[in-house]
Formats: sequence, C-alpha cells, structure tokens
Amino acid sequence: MKITLSVIKADIGGYVGHSHAHPDVVEAVKEVGKEAVKKGTLIDCDVLVCGDDIALVMTHTHGVDSPVVHGLAWEAFQRGTQVAKKLKLYGAGQDLLSDAFSGNVKGMGPGVAEMEFEERPSEPVIVFFADKTAPSAWNLALYEMFADPMVCSGLVIDPKMHEGFTFEVLDTFTGKAVKLSTPSELYDLLALIGTVERYAVRSVWRNSDGEIAAVASTQRLSLIAGRYVGKDDPVLIVRAQSGFPAVGEILEPFARPWIVEGWMRGSHNGPLMPVSFRHATPSRFDGPPRVIAAGYQLSEGKLIGPRDLFDDPAFDNARQTAQMMADILRRQGIFEPHRLPSEEMEYTTLPKILKKLEGRFYNLEEGKKEPVEHQQHADVD
Ligand code: F6R
Ligand code: MG
Ligand code: MG
Repeated sequence: MKITLSVIKADIGGYVGHSHAHPDVVEAVKEVGKEAVKKGTLIDCDVLVCGDDIALVMTHTHGVDSPVVHGLAWEAFQRGTQVAKKLKLYGAGQDLLSDAFSGNVKGMGPGVAEMEFEERPSEPVIVFFADKTAPSAWNLALYEMFADPMVCSGLVIDPKMHEGFTFEVLDTFTGKAVKLSTPSELYDLLALIGTVERYAVRSVWRNSDGEIAAVASTQRLSLIAGRYVGKDDPVLIVRAQSGFPAVGEILEPFARPWIVEGWMRGSHNGPLMPVSFRHATPSRFDGPPRVIAAGYQLSEGKLIGPRDLFDDPAFDNARQTAQMMADILRRQGIFEPHRLPSEEMEYTTLPKILKKLEGRFYNLEEGKKEPVEHQQHADVD
C-alpha cells in the first residue's frame, strides 16, 4: 500500500513568551486530527511539540501536496489559534500569514515535510523537530547520515546502501534546486550545504533504486512574508533500517552537537541540543536551539509510537557539551560570531543606526579627522 507521511508544523502562540506551547492549544490541534481519523480522511495522526511549535504527523493515501490534508492542518492551526488568542498567548496565530486557505499551506507560513512510499514489511521512520533554528540546521546531520561512512557504517557494509544517496539541495535565495549524487559529487555537495545561510537539503534519495530516504521542510518564512516573522523552525522525516541508515546511525550526528543559526531573536549562533520531549522548552536566552526525535513504526499507515529517541542517557554527554558550547558562545554577548552577521539577523536596527549617524562619518584620507560640529542627527522613524 502506498502511504503518504505528512508533517506540517506551525507556531501559533507561545507559552510563556516563545518557550513552549500551551496544553489547551495542543489539545485543540489534536482534536481536529482525531476527527479526521474518525472520518477516514487520515489513517492516523499524532501531534508533537518542540518549543513554541506544534507539528501534525499525519498518515494517509492522498499523496503529497493534497488540498484535503493541507486544509486539515490549516483548520487545526486555526482552531489552536482561537484558543491561543483567548488565552492571549504570545504571538497567537503568528505563522498563519493569510486569512484564507487556498489549497496548499506552502507559502502561507506553516512548514511542511511530506513523502509518499510503499510501506515496507517493517517501516521505521524518525521525525525530527527543532525549535529556534532554521532548515539548514539539518545540512550537517543529513550529510553524516547519508554520506559520511565514519558516522554511517552502513554506507560501507550494507550492499543496499553502497551506491550512495542523492541529495536535493535548495538555494533559498533563488528558489531553484539541484540534485547531487554522493559519493561521486560529495565535495560539490559540501561546498553548497556548508553555506548554511543560503542552501538547505530538501530531500535525499537512495541511488540503487531511487527510493525516498529523507525529506525536510524548507520554507523560509523571511522570504514568504517578505520580511522576517520568525526563523522557520524545521521538521525532517527520515526512513530507517534495511537499506537505509539504522536508527542509531540516523541519531548519531546529534551525539556531537554542532552550531546552528537561530537562538535568541533568530539572530545568534548556538548549539543544537538533542533533548527528550519533556525538555523541548528553550528558556535560557530563549534557547539554546532544541531538537527532538520521534520514532514510529508504521503498520498499514498506523503510527505505532512515538518513541522519544533522545530520552536516552547516551545523549547526556551531548547535552552537557551543548551547555558548554552555549556558555562559550554567550561570553561573546552581542559580538559576532555569537551574534549573526547583520544580513542574517532576524531583527536589526542597523539601518536606523546608520541613518542616524549619517554625516558623522568622516574620510580619514582627506585628513578630515573630526566630525562636523553641531551635526544634526537625521530624523529616524
Ligand atoms: C527566536 C524567538 C525569540 C524571540 C524573542 C523576542 O526565534 O522566537 O527569541 O525573537 O523572544 O521576541 P519579541 O520580539 O516577540 O519580543
Ligand atoms: Mg515563537
Ligand atoms: Mg519556534
């Protein structure tokens, strides 16, 4: 049976501030999922929370980009927003950028990761969900899972994986994508995806038979809205085992935290900390960025799970390391490289400050060493 697994997420209000989602809002979203399962529109539905974001994990047979499924998610987030507004939660409805649903939530604010596949005799999948970061946060992890044999030993020793994987990479500035096959084009791939402010891995495919292996959400709210409205906290679906990386190979990159863009005001670099569902509550300096991993076995489309995969003491050292990295970066305060370069910041007062200082900059080469006296500050709005 061909199954579609759709994960659609949005931030429809924070509790408290941007640190978590309120249980009543989560309940309202869940209710819509339950109704859809009862009606038979969905085979199954689960709801995950990471920080102030809520994700619907849905299985069905409508294929990807289905107006029915996207409409359902929109309805669920609308109902959650009503509750969020009643409780005056922070930024209630912030990711629902349009008042009217037009058939597809892409471009309207919510993040989407979807894949359609023939369910295998046993189909383990992992849904990763991160808060206070952006889709390119997955770049390093996906490279390690699907192209680095020092992390994924299956690339060398499982005959089904030995031909490698193809990465589809999105240029978030132009909206164009390119497919690169590894291992042959590995260095080209890394040249692109190491540029995290521009390129994000969208999907990964197995070379031996073209099977879909992973899909990430790559919406970029800043471009969707024409202005920054929050970093687009991402989701990622990865299929595991039997010709795909093992669950442990997929989780392994997260055992050594790396630095991602996001954190406070979407304007800082910080470590991505793997946490249990319970600890997906970024509070210190609104962070550090968090990631959860929900494991499911699919059974005729039913979601058996989730298992909270980072709820394992083997990730304690990673959490400890992330804390240390957070301390080191926080020492930089408002200075780069903790603070992002100005063009990557979600908030910036720099244009206003530069406007205010207009006329006070002087040219050293012309020997004019002092600013003009009684310089009027330009009015700023
Ligand atoms: C980052 C994030 C938070 C907010 C910060 C300020 O993605 O959501 O760090 O940017 O709490 O929020 P405002 O400007 O809404 O007061
Ligand atoms: Mg928020
Ligand atoms: Mg968020």
